[in-house]
Amino acid sequence: MKLGIPKETLGGERRVATTPEVAKKLVGKGFEVLLEPGAGVAAHYTDDDYAAVGVQLAERAACFEADIVLKVRRPGDDEAAALRAGAIYISLLESCGDDPLVARMLEKGVRVMGMERMPRISRAQSMDALSSQSNIAGYRAVIEAASQYGRFFPMMMTSAGSAKPARLVVLGAGVAGLQAIATARRLGADVYAYDVRPETKEQIQSLGAKPIELDLGESGAGEGGYAKELSDEAKARQQELLAKELAKAHVIITTALIPCRPAPELITADVVQRMREGSVIVDLAAANGGNCKLTRPDQVVVEHGVTIVGHTNYPSMVPADASAFYAKNLSNLLEIMVDQTEAGPVLKDLAEDEITKAMLVQA
Ligand SMILES: NC(=O)c1ccc[n+]([C@@H]2O[C@H](COP(=O)([O-])OP(=O)(O)OC[C@H]3O[C@@H](n4cnc5c(N)ncnc54)[C@H](O)[C@@H]3O)[C@@H](O)[C@H]2O)c1
Repeated sequence: MKLGIPKETLGGERRVATTPEVAKKLVGKGFEVLLEPGAGVAAHYTDDDYAAVGVQLAERAACFEADIVLKVRRPGDDEAAALRAGAIYISLLESCGDDPLVARMLEKGVRVMGMERMPRISRAQSMDALSSQSNIAGYRAVIEAASQYGRFFPMMMTSAGSAKPARLVVLGAGVAGLQAIATARRLGADVYAYDVRPETKEQIQSLGAKPIELDLGESGAGEGGYAKELSDEAKARQQELLAKELAKAHVIITTALIPCRPAPELITADVVQRMREGSVIVDLAAANGGNCKLTRPDQVVVEHGVTIVGHTNYPSMVPADASAFYAKNLSNLLEIMVDQTEAGPVLKDLAEDEITKAMLVQA
């Protein structure tokens, strides 16, 4: 069974869908792994590293003709056209609801599996790319904030003077938010965090941060561990109650998302204006509209003396480890997709396993 790994072409993407370490295991399990030359270079994996573990360097077109094509990012039009009927295509699809490109792939007879459709059950944790990549984003967002901030994160006492710790607020305490809290604590910041799901309180405390609790009159807990959208009344109340806490912050990392909805606006322009000169906001929700009113996707802007960072692809800024985690997610998924036989791996019925069934996009 052939696995095709083409080079990612979407703007600035540095990740790759497999690493030499993971490819070695796949080859050991009887897969033929075809990789487009240079596919791993931006993530610091050379063609020689892959060739040394038995990967075949192949033309881009040959990678797209494989039995299973593995990618990180959503396919482009030309990529979708290059797939053959009967093939399986797996990547993040980065779409919600109607997706004409995916519909065309299905019409052609390609089976499409979206990594973000992974069910949130314990058995699927090792295959969950949203979690593995969010973890990296949470870490990298704090590093970004620290480098943009003109002061120290930790308390500093030196012979030349002392500095107070930064007051840092994390909004949204899911996978990215909890990693942001842990990273900011390691750097010595004084960390506060808020999430609309009440069960996050204990998780925030266990990482040494202080939970911000607001009485919104309703719970934001939705299905499958995700948040649900609040009523307009609760949204307004949330903005109002949060404003006092946020205006005191020196650094804010925002990670609040609701599946298939625009990101909730938690930081108003008025709050930004009230923050201390030199403060920093890193908005991890920038690609989904932003948690801050003044965020500009893919830009770093300064508004009222506050630096607002709107990068939209943090995992790609840690490309070696992000690729390694993603590759591991994929190889764990492949393990449940095939039976190992003497003749090599044989595809199972994907509709039979609850994980692969949930990942398959239906026509
Ligand atoms: N396999 C599994 O069991 C599995 C896998 C991944 C995640 N999870 C759980 O799912 C939960 C959420 O995961 P995620 O981080 O991917 O979610 P996410 O990326 O969709 O959202 C990030 C966070 O934003 C919060 N949020 C949304 N609206 C908000 C608002 N108005 N104000 C404040 N916060 C708001 C959400 O509650 C969430 O914690 C976590 O508890 C995680 O542990 C379980």
